[in-house]
Amino acid sequence: MTKYEYYVSSRVMFGAGRTREIGLILKQYNQHGNIMLVTDSGGWVEPLIKELEISLYQEGFKSIVKYNAISPNPKMSECIRGIEIAKENKSSIFIALGGGSILDAAKKIAKDCEAKFFITIPTTAGTGSHINEWSVLIKDENSEKISLQNIPANIALLDPIATVSMPPVTTLFTGLDSFSHGMEAYFGTGASILTDMQSLKGCQMVVENIQSAMEDGNNIEVRSRILEADLLTGNAMLNAGLGILHCIANIVPGFYPDYSHGYICASLLKATAEFNKEAISQEKRQQMLPLVEKISNIFENAIKKYDIKPVTIDNGHLQTIKKIGAANVNGKTNPKKVTEDAVEKLMRDSFLIT
Ligand SMILES: [Fe+2]
Repeated sequence: MTKYEYYVSSRVMFGAGRTREIGLILKQYNQHGNIMLVTDSGGWVEPLIKELEISLYQEGFKSIVKYNAISPNPKMSECIRGIEIAKENKSSIFIALGGGSILDAAKKIAKDCEAKFFITIPTTAGTGSHINEWSVLIKDENSEKISLQNIPANIALLDPIATVSMPPVTTLFTGLDSFSHGMEAYFGTGASILTDMQSLKGCQMVVENIQSAMEDGNNIEVRSRILEADLLTGNAMLNAGLGILHCIANIVPGFYPDYSHGYICASLLKATAEFNKEAISQEKRQQMLPLVEKISNIFENAIKKYDIKPVTIDNGHLQTIKKIGAANVNGKTNPKKVTEDAVEKLMRDSFLIT
């Protein structure tokens, strides 16, 4: 008999323009106190920050400190600096506005500051980070990426308007990260009927909408579907776990910070499906493999259109990464045993090794 548990870590509030309701939402939850806004440093995020600040000021929140010194692959030292600033400001409410890296760093900061209330607002659609308590951070001393259990948000505020500034290639990479969460959760040993429904529907929605999201980034309907797909696959991931693809994708950017997590995931999708397919049921193969084929075609066409260079890994690094990858916690729910040889094969099939 199958055994499983299922939980949802955060209250989800979905809707275009809801970023402007942040002040009211905090009041509705009877929250008062100093706020730390953990966010991105890019100019594109300024209009969203302005909207947040106006909403907060209108509801009487006066002390807001901003922290934006966070790398695309966030370092532990950057979180520690954020914790120091939050403590100086006596921040008790934390709002994270940004992509997965910002949300991951904010979860560590919020936990160490014993946050009274924590809200995540994703500006990308694919990391699933806004609805889980996990942070992938880099140790400063040896570049190793580690997964830390921090705290989940009280509220995940999903506003498709907050994702429209994503350029096409970022839209593609984060969307394929979302697909990889759905695929790994669907194939894995932690899957249940609840996560299967979410995984499959989420992957279908990525396939159906990612091309339009790249080409017509201001289309709020399309952005909404991609953000909802991320919600579905992210929740499936939270409950079912992941697999060998993330044993690699969570490690490689520690050695190659210029490669985003989503790009690594996108590159590994096809080889991972091929590696695992003999270990999953025929029904699951029939449902998921055509979707993998379709998303891989979209990825390959985008590589040509946007002149995306292949992920290139030094052979010496491959030898190190395969050892760390084979021991990674995500391998525990992969349908096939994750060995060093398996990690090496997937990397050789998916990346350019020099
Ligand atoms: Fe991922």
